[in-house]
Amino acid sequence: MNKTLLAIDIGSSNITAVIARNNLDYKINILGTGTYKSDGINKGAISNIELASKSIKEAVSIARKNTTEQIESTVVSVSGAYTKGLRSSGSVNVPNGLITENEINQVLQMALYNATIIPEYEVVHVVPIFFKIDDSADVENPLNMNGSRLEVSVYIVTAKKTALTNIKSAFKMANLTVNNFVLDSYATAISILDEQQRKFGATVINLGATTTEFACYKGSSLIYNGFIPVGSNHITNDLSVMLHTPPIAAEKIKTEYGDLLKSDEELANKKVRTPRIGDEKNSSEVSLEYIQTIIHARVEEVLTLVRNNLKKSGIHESLGTGIVITGGMSKLIGIKELATLIFDNLPVKISNPVNIKNGYMSFDDPKMATIVGLLLYSLETNRNFELDSNKNLIKKRKIVEQAATKTQAENYSESIAAADIQKTVLNGKDKGVSDENDSSKLLPKLTKKDKNTGVKRLWNAITEWF
Ligand SMILES: Nc1ncnc2c1ncn2[C@@H]1O[C@H](COP(=O)(O)OP(=O)(O)OP(=O)(O)O)[C@@H](O)[C@H]1O
Ligand SMILES: [Mg+2]
Repeated sequence: MNKTLLAIDIGSSNITAVIARNNLDYKINILGTGTYKSDGINKGAISNIELASKSIKEAVSIARKNTTEQIESTVVSVSGAYTKGLRSSGSVNVPNGLITENEINQVLQMALYNATIIPEYEVVHVVPIFFKIDDSADVENPLNMNGSRLEVSVYIVTAKKTALTNIKSAFKMANLTVNNFVLDSYATAISILDEQQRKFGATVINLGATTTEFACYKGSSLIYNGFIPVGSNHITNDLSVMLHTPPIAAEKIKTEYGDLLKSDEELANKKVRTPRIGDEKNSSEVSLEYIQTIIHARVEEVLTLVRNNLKKSGIHESLGTGIVITGGMSKLIGIKELATLIFDNLPVKISNPVNIKNGYMSFDDPKMATIVGLLLYSLETNRNFELDSNKNLIKKRKIVEQAATKTQAENYSESIAAADIQKTVLNGKDKGVSDENDSSKLLPKLTKKDKNTGVKRLWNAITEWF
């Protein structure tokens, strides 16, 4: 893709717009970036087209300040809130004995044709899980291979037509046209997982403001995605309600004092002053222990819902390299340790997206995972074959095809290097790398049954309100 791209992540806290294009040497060149507070977007869906459109327009106009380049293509994130995933398969004959892009396209279209798509849903992705040539073992890339029959097994992501139409309408109102949709959690996985994680299997969990989106990879392919309508804003709401404090104060308490690792002893007698809702001249004292209990309850809930969803889908057992958590809420201290408990001691990592260097915005932040994924999805040189939301074949670049003597791994690392991308290193170590000897602190408070009962009581009260 040598067009000038506008990528937009429609988050419920922020809308992020990035204008970028590939240089002649296929490096991703960021031309402009903009972020604007979201409005009219809730739990992954557009709830007010006019307000959403204004936020989109603002984010894009900030990004446009940095460049005069004409936008030629627009790619937008789609929440798993209104998607359904399904499996299918297809097979085609190879008339000349040599598999070209033509046959690859045909077999993917055939797998899509064979799938039962619900009428009110539209296709967003058709991703090959594996190819087979003449019943031979799994083939990752069938291009230029010889055979008489090509088969494919695919994972198809579909989205509710009405939800996509609402997004298109909001963009239209902002004088923009959507050319391509990409599933949020798929984009996140693309920006977060390294080659090993993709190959041996991992689940990426994007903990956002009002949504939790997750995607599972195995054998270098997307194999499952899911969604929970709970995010970090729910913690803020809980704190606001339970502490009788305004949401702004509750948000501050969450980000400044939220810490799931502090022990009873560390928290003993520690209190913070919080303004009272409706009576802001006065404040009340709240114990840090109580704050921790409220936060813990919500985080435990969302992670447990993800685990249960994965268990129900049968994916849980084959997660390979484990769980990778990202998104704004992943900044909460102790979330890794809590997730380790909830996911039955599977390896858990907190990761930032690959950091595409540019002079405008740092991508070195977990809340940037989706936008970086959109850029890599659209501009990265070494992509796998798949069908996009227009049912068009995404092709591998010539730059890769010419390098016939190189291994895939070499090509992959070169394309990453070419894109001038640096894997983010946090706290002096790559958070994407498993660390068996990680002397992670244990959560001192989580295993206490008595606290759990208290949490449950609070919880019942809170869930009645939200
Ligand atoms: N230290 C922290 N602890 C808990 N939550 C945090 C922390 N720092 C930021 N957050 C939360 O992260 C959220 C923003 O994350 P992100 O940008 O990933 O969400 P989003 O993409 O806008 O929302 P969504 O994906 O749900 O539509 C906010 O709710 C913010 O309060
Ligand atoms: Mg998000």
